[in-house]
Amino acid sequence: MSRAGWAVASHPVTDRPPTPPVVWTVVVAAGSGRRFGGAKQHAPLAGRSVLGWSVATAASVGDGVVAVVPPGEETGPAPDGADRLVAGGATRSESVRRGLAAVPDDAAIVLVHDAARPAASTALFAAVVDAVAAGAEAVVPAVPVADTLRRRDGDAIDRDDVVAVQTPQGFRADVLRRAHAGGREATDDAGLAEAIGARVRIVDGETTNLKITHPADLAVVAAHLDRRAETPSEVG
Ligand code: CTP
Ligand code: MG
Repeated sequence: MSRAGWAVASHPVTDRPPTPPVVWTVVVAAGSGRRFGGAKQHAPLAGRSVLGWSVATAASVGDGVVAVVPPGEETGPAPDGADRLVAGGATRSESVRRGLAAVPDDAAIVLVHDAARPAASTALFAAVVDAVAAGAEAVVPAVPVADTLRRRDGDAIDRDDVVAVQTPQGFRADVLRRAHAGGREATDDAGLAEAIGARVRIVDGETTNLKITHPADLAVVAAHLDRRAETPSEVG
């Protein structure tokens, strides 16, 4: 008897869809906000904090969220949707490592998200998860670059050759753990994954998914979130 016939004839239970992978997100919020002039992750934004938005969206997609906060704040109240609160480190990569250490072993997919990108949508998180679930080792959202670019030495760069990379970035959990095992530093996690030989897949990012860097960025992101709240189909 064929395997399919056997399954259908006597064990229909084997036709159940496979269990979906366990997904956790590490939201890094342990920076000092030097360019912003203070702790931008706690800045009020459209009814929540910057960190509150990032955690709430991450929680709406996966199975758990680790929020990585400035040392000393890990005993304080956790933002709604955060399952674990841990102290960050001196660099972004170190903060990711500390967050990753708090992700349970059964997580198959781990996303890393900058708290400073509170307008990343649920749909973007889902697209990143889907791309990893479909087989990618590392996934980054990216958007075309609007500015004309030039190297510091003066040479022009064709902007069609480059994209601007965002978070959330998604990884097979084993790949992300290996990428961080050496304690290396990079501006993002896909860079570390690439350094251990992983292939990075790009999915469409969102032009509204701005990183809050300077104080003026807050008003722009607030406008995006307000507009989304008025458009039910875009909520999330
Ligand atoms: N981050 C972190 N731990 C660090 C440094 C950064 O968790 N040691 C986090 C920030 O909180 C932020 C994200 O990484 O959510 C991206 O970093 P960035 O936008 O550079 O934030 P800051 O480092 O806080 O800002 P600045 O570089 O202006 O000081
Ligand atoms: Mg920084």
